[in-house]
Amino acid sequence: MAKQKAAPRQDASQAPVAAKAPDNSVYIGQSIKPEFIYLRLANRHGLITGATGTGKTVTLQGLAEGFSDQGVSVFCADVKGDLSGVAEQGESKPWIEARDKEIGYTQNYRAYPVIFWDLFGEKGHPIRATVSELGPLLLSRLMDLSEAQEGVLNIAFKIADDEKLPLLDLKALLQDLADRAGELTTKYGNITKASIGSIQRSLLVLQQQGADHFFGEPALKISDLMRVARDGLGYISVLVADKLMESPRLYATFLLFLMSELFEELPEVGDPDKPKLVFFFDEAHLLFKDAPKALLEKVEQVVRLIRSKGVGVYFVTQNPLDIPDTVSRQLGNRIQHALRAFSPLEQKAVKAAATTFRANPAFDTEKAIMELGIGEALVSTLDEKGQPSMVQKTLIRPPNSRVGPITDAQRKTVINASPVKGIYDETEDRESAYELLQKRTADHTEAEAAQAQDKEATQASGSKSRSDGFWTTFGKQVIRSVVPAATRMLEQQIKRGTLGGIRRGRGSGGF
Ligand SMILES: Nc1ncnc2c1ncn2[C@@H]1O[C@H](COP(=O)(O)OP(=O)(O)OP(=O)(O)O)[C@@H](O)[C@H]1O
Ligand SMILES: [Mg+2]
Repeated sequence: MAKQKAAPRQDASQAPVAAKAPDNSVYIGQSIKPEFIYLRLANRHGLITGATGTGKTVTLQGLAEGFSDQGVSVFCADVKGDLSGVAEQGESKPWIEARDKEIGYTQNYRAYPVIFWDLFGEKGHPIRATVSELGPLLLSRLMDLSEAQEGVLNIAFKIADDEKLPLLDLKALLQDLADRAGELTTKYGNITKASIGSIQRSLLVLQQQGADHFFGEPALKISDLMRVARDGLGYISVLVADKLMESPRLYATFLLFLMSELFEELPEVGDPDKPKLVFFFDEAHLLFKDAPKALLEKVEQVVRLIRSKGVGVYFVTQNPLDIPDTVSRQLGNRIQHALRAFSPLEQKAVKAAATTFRANPAFDTEKAIMELGIGEALVSTLDEKGQPSMVQKTLIRPPNSRVGPITDAQRKTVINASPVKGIYDETEDRESAYELLQKRTADHTEAEAAQAQDKEATQASGSKSRSDGFWTTFGKQVIRSVVPAATRMLEQQIKRGTLGGIRRGRGSGGF
């Protein structure tokens, strides 16, 4: 036993040498001592901040690797495409060699198991959600609705619920609501055609931003975000977000949606030995920018409670002031890269960032933040007792995987070998609200037509029995129910085509 203990702790060919950081931790880099995050405290969340080009993405990449090494799954968004390199083996570079020497780290160049996800289904597996999963609050945010409009949307959800209409097809549902506005207002509260009209217009904008790719089935199963590879490494889910970032609201709402799904679907686990998933929220300022109070409260609540579901959330943003106080206070593990301080606002950010750290008598925190080099950061993590450690100037360890984007061919190889291959690649079709509504409208129209015919006939002959009308309608309904399903499907597909919900020639249950 003693002999085993004396043996070198790590074999460089197996796992990265975590420069004397404890086994049950993720190594960040080196100050006057190793800096790391305890796995059992990794669900106490974190924050990575710093001006552009100071090393945030490289830090995130290293952390993602570290969690993966420990069998923890990771979710992160790749905003600029440069995080995709985590799927390929890294290679020696002068700056990596130099840094390794400085901190005594031995690189274990390797690729990590990655699942690429893409809302547009172009550079990764499609990732979808249903309208009902999203819920009225997030949808309102997504469409930037006013309070009154949000009220109407809430009612739409309620009606769909009461009338057992699947919410796949919001557009159709809204139209139906508009048609029945008078009748519904007495039962549910004020529904104006004007507010429905503006929601419909917002929906159209959303659709133009590409959100129709997002709504549909099969919806993402969160268990697919928590996969562990055969060699024990946690899968790193990379959300391809370069194109998505052109619709910042969609990006932010989607990540928030994922967070709330995790929160709602995962069981309570208290404080586990290690997290089930670590969720990196890059460009986090987008989540909070102009967010209404109700949404901020929801974010604050989800962040607070998701901890006990074994999920650690790490916000990544340039300016620490981007994160509201109520959320920031909950972020236990902090990595602050350099900030510039030219303008008064920037100086304020530096001051604010400095006050979030437990001061180190060896240096002035504020000054240090402005003087940090690239790939250097002020680090404070939670110690064994769960208290913030004293802030340290830390040289961040370089990633083992490639720094920078992978090629299209390499991406294709990764996608083809993915454990979720075939699960999400094709959209599923199921009877949506639109179809149910179409049916209902068709039935109504037929009944009306039949009634009209009946009336005409009665008027013409003057003596036809009333039951004729009934039988005509009934007969039509019978015929309708036996009309070959294929014809009706075709009909529906054509109709849906005009709604823009068809992708790859099939119904996607979009708007
Ligand atoms: N730990 C490190 N050690 C040495 N050099 C580093 C380190 N981290 C980053 N660098 C250097 O800085 C460059 C920029 O880093 P990175 O892309 O992580 O910055 P960023 O903060 O994410 O920038 P942006 O805000 O523009 O996305 C890297 O390509 C690398 O050359
Ligand atoms: Mg970056």
